[in-house]
Amino acid sequence: MLGPNPREKYPIPGNKNVQFINNTITKSNIIVGDYSYYDALHGESFEDQVLYHYEVLGTKLVIGKFCSIAPETRFIMGGGNHRMDGSTYPFNIFGNGWEAYTPTLEQLPLKGDTVVGNDVWIGRRATIMPGVRIGDGAIIGAESVVVKDVKPYTIVGGNPAKEIRKRYSPEIIEELLEIRWWDNDIEIINQNIEAIVSGDIESLRKMRSLR
Ligand SMILES: CC(C)(COP(=O)(O)OP(=O)(O)OC[C@H]1O[C@@H](n2cnc3c(N)ncnc32)[C@H](O)[C@@H]1OP(=O)(O)O)[C@@H](O)C(=O)NCCC(=O)NCCS
Repeated sequence: MLGPNPREKYPIPGNKNVQFINNTITKSNIIVGDYSYYDALHGESFEDQVLYHYEVLGTKLVIGKFCSIAPETRFIMGGGNHRMDGSTYPFNIFGNGWEAYTPTLEQLPLKGDTVVGNDVWIGRRATIMPGVRIGDGAIIGAESVVVKDVKPYTIVGGNPAKEIRKRYSPEIIEELLEIRWWDNDIEIINQNIEAIVSGDIESLRKMRSLR
């Protein structure tokens, strides 16, 4: 058993929607781990779903390994935020002398990097707001608007997204965060997929000693 080639752009033969994101990225401010995929609605690229992500702002979108990102998920990045200390109208973008009112980076309400952990499942049409950090193993419900950080192995939903429940007990979550199954070599992951998909903690514990 080998599984898909992690260097493929479209790992499912004949399917031009499901894409391993890191093989589609052209911008240096988006960093994505192996096997994380975006399931496009109409063949659009993952980058099309990352809005207002201007390189000049210096912020990054970082996504871990083995994440599942459903169609129409959107990442709104900090560049979408207008000044809010006075008029929110962006005079500068229209030039003709108004470029003199271009805000400095300090004047913009930037929120820093957006970070998604490993093994995160983001449901359809979720919106992730700037600067949010989503922990490993979290689940984001369909149509959610995530405005605050999401703790690992926590299910959230709604607008604004609120905790629905934890996926495991605090002790198991702590262990899973130590095991970090996704950091193993793919050969070891291949040998343990049954334990990974069933959350068989006894077997997953053995993976820890293999690294
Ligand atoms: C979040 C999700 C995983 C929860 O699944 P679940 O545990 O079976 O949820 P339940 O149906 O038992 O609902 C549990 C609670 O969460 C709420 N809830 C479920 N999904 C929600 C969502 N997307 N947004 C807001 N609240 C949600 C329910 O209303 C319920 O609330 P209550 O306890 O106050 O009654 C699921 O509802 C979901 O959104 N999945 C994403 C599906 C998707 O987008 N797939 C795309 C292809 S990958």
